[in-house]
Amino acid sequence: MSLRLGDTAPDFTATTTTGELQFHDWLGNDWGVLFSHPKDFTPVCTTELGTVARLKPEFDRRGVKVIGLSVDGVSDHEGWSKDIEATQGVALNFPLIADKDRSIAEAYDMIHPNAEATATVRSVFVVDPAKKVRLTLTYPASTGRDFSEILRAIDSLQLTSTKQVATPANWRKGDDVIILASVSDEQAREAYPEGWRAPRPYLRYVPDPSTKSEGAA
Ligand code: BEZ
Repeated sequence: MSLRLGDTAPDFTATTTTGELQFHDWLGNDWGVLFSHPKDFTPVCTTELGTVARLKPEFDRRGVKVIGLSVDGVSDHEGWSKDIEATQGVALNFPLIADKDRSIAEAYDMIHPNAEATATVRSVFVVDPAKKVRLTLTYPASTGRDFSEILRAIDSLQLTSTKQVATPANWRKGDDVIILASVSDEQAREAYPEGWRAPRPYLRYVPDPSTKSEGAA
């Protein structure tokens, strides 16, 4: 069965380019992004892994560990890493899982047989420090992912985990956010004594509380 938002991310032991690891232990108290790619030595995957390596400081800044996966072996991963560095101008700086027996791919429902019988699709799982699945994405092999969108979504997940707000379409960190419908006007007045902008009673905008030093609910 596929994993749903709020489910516990299945734990596993993995062979990776940085050695053996136990997923939950490796995550520790950090957030995590587990993403699959269909096959080593393929062009779109090569660009994706270079992109994630280049964005690694942005994941680090958000307290997020990244880990890739394919059903190829570690020796292929190591050979391919040299191509990634040579063609993308950045070395792999996060572990790549070698899921040769596909046990992890199956636990996360990353193989979609009606799309491709043996390789994984391009799955993304964002996992929070409680090991709960907080976001999933599924792209076909022919479509490379936009990892800046994943960073943007993580900004929203991290903000909305601690504040009683939601983020509107195309939101970027620093843009106005929306007070949750479950927060009454009375409660909102306590949290936002300076008020809010409300084009409709159910659409209450306030400045992004993560850009303020204190005081927001
Ligand atoms: C690619 O990464 O380019 C790719 C991998 C599998 C199928 C199609 C494209």
